[in-house]
Amino acid sequence: MELWGDGATKAWSIGFTFHDQEVPVVATDTIRLVSTGMWTPSRVLTNADLERMVDTTSDWIVERTGIHERRIADDDIGVVDMGCNAAHEALAEAGLDPSGVDAIIVSTATPDRLLPATACDIQARLGANQAVAFDLWGACSGWLYALNVARGLILSGQIENALCVATEKMSAITDWTDRATCVLFGDAAGAAVVQRSDREGRGILASYMRSDGSLAELLHRPPSSAQPIPIDIAEIAHRNGFIRMAGREVFKNAVRSMCEAVDAVLEQAGISKDDVDLLVPHQANIRIIEATAKYANIGMDRVWVNVDRYGNTSSATIPVGLHEARQVGRIRDGSLVLMVTFGAGLTWAGALLRW
Ligand code: ACO
Repeated sequence: MELWGDGATKAWSIGFTFHDQEVPVVATDTIRLVSTGMWTPSRVLTNADLERMVDTTSDWIVERTGIHERRIADDDIGVVDMGCNAAHEALAEAGLDPSGVDAIIVSTATPDRLLPATACDIQARLGANQAVAFDLWGACSGWLYALNVARGLILSGQIENALCVATEKMSAITDWTDRATCVLFGDAAGAAVVQRSDREGRGILASYMRSDGSLAELLHRPPSSAQPIPIDIAEIAHRNGFIRMAGREVFKNAVRSMCEAVDAVLEQAGISKDDVDLLVPHQANIRIIEATAKYANIGMDRVWVNVDRYGNTSSATIPVGLHEARQVGRIRDGSLVLMVTFGAGLTWAGALLRW
């Protein structure tokens, strides 16, 4: 095997000889998604069901959020189960045996347990015994963060591939008596196998990650290890671990930060908004999606929407969206896909992908 350096472009080549002919394998300076997978529970919770649980109406939920139904995992299903289901599908498509996985990077806001990392439990379940496994806490932005961390590890030569998993059981941290939040969330998992791209101009063309911890109180989930364990029952109820959100403020920041991410990745890649084939945004609220698409000048016919069927599944929304869009042929070889997200932290991120 010999190296054919190519300093003019950012690509370099490893050649091999086959029947006396030199066959180049281009290794670019980015990564590509080799495969995707997803899993959602079969149990459906409709708006009509919620009308019987809290003081709300299906009309209000649809008008304010675009959500019609969401999936809810059974009590005995955890994020490790869910993440493994999505991972199995992605590994199968990639033709990658779990023992060949170099890294498992998991995004979850709802771990089955706080120690060890969910990624380690997924590693053990998959039998990916050669991998390093760790979690990322990026809330809804976690999967795009994971993709970017995998990109850095691969391009720095530390690993050759990574399994990026988002697995979220939002139903477990939802206060089912709080109408302001319980109508929004659902459960899902998504996954992708990534490796160095072997075709120039294909793969992740640009990535962007930001955070603003000063806005953390807008969307958070107690308790914390900084607080002593409460002995008073009322205090326990107050700190019961459900998600708390200042919806209107989060809404404004969501639109602002997703638009910023759109500009950042397109500018980085030197690509016009007109060239984007499909926008796969975080699915929190149809009005946030529409505002982002309008800003990006991308018609809703070029936007992947599944918030109506799944609600907000936190960091799982983008890998699930990618997988579904591929399955129905909305993402094909060469498609230019723009992904933008925001979440608790606040965090926000974007990535531009040429499939
Ligand atoms: N049914 C009926 N009425 C409701 C409901 C409900 N489910 N929820 C709230 N209301 C009422 C409120 O009490 C309020 O009544 P009031 O005017 O008498 O006080 C009224 O509806 C309007 O409430 P707003 O909060 O102003 O409604 P808004 O149009 O902002 O919609 C929503 C609320 C859907 C939560 C919206 O603000 C939103 O989507 N925010 C962003 C949420 C989000 O994206 N979260 C991301 C989470 S990301 C992560 O990391 C998990």
